[in-house]
Amino acid sequence: MNCIGMEFFEELLKRPSMFKDESKLDINFIPEELPHREKELSLLSQLFLGLITNPNTISRKVLITGKTGIGKTVTVKCFGKLLENASKKRNINIMYAHVNCRKERTSYKVLIKIIQILDRNFPKRGYSLQDLLDVLIEFLHRNDMHILIVLDELSYLINKHEDLIYSLTRINDDAIKCDQRLSIIGIVRDLSCLNNLDVSTMSTLQTNIIDFKKYSREQIFDILKYRADISLKKNVLSDKMIEMISEITFNSSDVRCGLNIIWKSCKIAESKNLKYINSECIRLGNQDLLPYSTIDVLECMNSQKLSFLLAIIKALNNYDKVKISFNEALKMYYIICENVEMKPRSNSQLWNYLQEFKRENLIATKTVSERIKGRHTIIEIPDLSLPHLKRNTIEMLNAKGFKI
Ligand SMILES: Nc1ncnc2c1ncn2[C@@H]1O[C@H](COP(=O)(O)OP(=O)(O)OP(=O)(O)O)[C@@H](O)[C@H]1O
Ligand SMILES: [Mg+2]
Repeated sequence: MNCIGMEFFEELLKRPSMFKDESKLDINFIPEELPHREKELSLLSQLFLGLITNPNTISRKVLITGKTGIGKTVTVKCFGKLLENASKKRNINIMYAHVNCRKERTSYKVLIKIIQILDRNFPKRGYSLQDLLDVLIEFLHRNDMHILIVLDELSYLINKHEDLIYSLTRINDDAIKCDQRLSIIGIVRDLSCLNNLDVSTMSTLQTNIIDFKKYSREQIFDILKYRADISLKKNVLSDKMIEMISEITFNSSDVRCGLNIIWKSCKIAESKNLKYINSECIRLGNQDLLPYSTIDVLECMNSQKLSFLLAIIKALNNYDKVKISFNEALKMYYIICENVEMKPRSNSQLWNYLQEFKRENLIATKTVSERIKGRHTIIEIPDLSLPHLKRNTIEMLNAKGFKI
């Protein structure tokens, strides 16, 4: 074949793109405006105003709660920027450190992450938890600095029997001259996870709770319209089409779903050489989707955990059941391990995985009492499309070198 026939890039680059800036549809992008979260931003500013008016004399602890995909993370990140900018203007040293506790699974990793935000070259190993707390407080004093620590997806840390929040609050209490150098925002989807916390920590956190409410259909429309305006060229996505995407998004209540559909349907329209996105592109774009939060969860799993998840999916599939028992999942897991030559994990470890799957909203479990079998746990996957979950799990395992 001659070179002219192989100019794929040239051909594609000649086509006018429908995107103005594709990256503005990325779920981690922080937009300049947050329609319908102005009230929450203003509330946060009021709560933290004292950090600027009376530097290092107060410490705030705030808890944010609300369902998945309704702007908790993005609002707090936006607020972090606002706080840093306002304090910089007044020569007050305030740092903002956002840590996702699902990604940094232990108190140790969370603390290292915070310290590395302050000092990029800080080594990862060789310290005890107490050493790290000392390093942090030393750094804050030396630099006359206040830090706002955001513990996002805090529920993942709470069940670990290590009370990082308690230790962090102690830093303020122990501080010389009672300087207040540390504030905390915790983000959780569901307040019930706090029941496992130490009573004093719980009462500290519960003084200021901001409950993020789900967006209405109209609010989702405004948000998606804004995100489409900044990322797509004019007239590519009509209001009618945004309404259609808003309707689908409203059902899941996760704005990520809408952003993803806009991106996918635009790609589909481009590939069909259309001038604008039509309802067929949206329908196609909405197929095959797992929620972004689920994909994110899968990406953080090791191969053992993925294999156990696959075992649950396959057991549900193969036995053609809505619910399976823990034992049925185990049987399938051993078969998978044998096939891919993986050393199986202990039953108690697998039990832990099961609890994590529950927290990650992948599965639901119920304990039932039966006359013959006695009490046992049953597992189901009520909220996700099984074929898509299976395909994604297998893809992740393949990427880790396991041929399934
Ligand atoms: N008001 C808004 N304006 C613009 N974009 C928004 C708004 N609310 C949410 N988004 C976007 O929707 C997506 C989901 O928001 P975010 O990540 O903040 O959800 P969350 O509440 O933290 O969910 P989770 O509990 O799953 O972590 C993000 O990409 C965010 O940029
Ligand atoms: Mg979040």
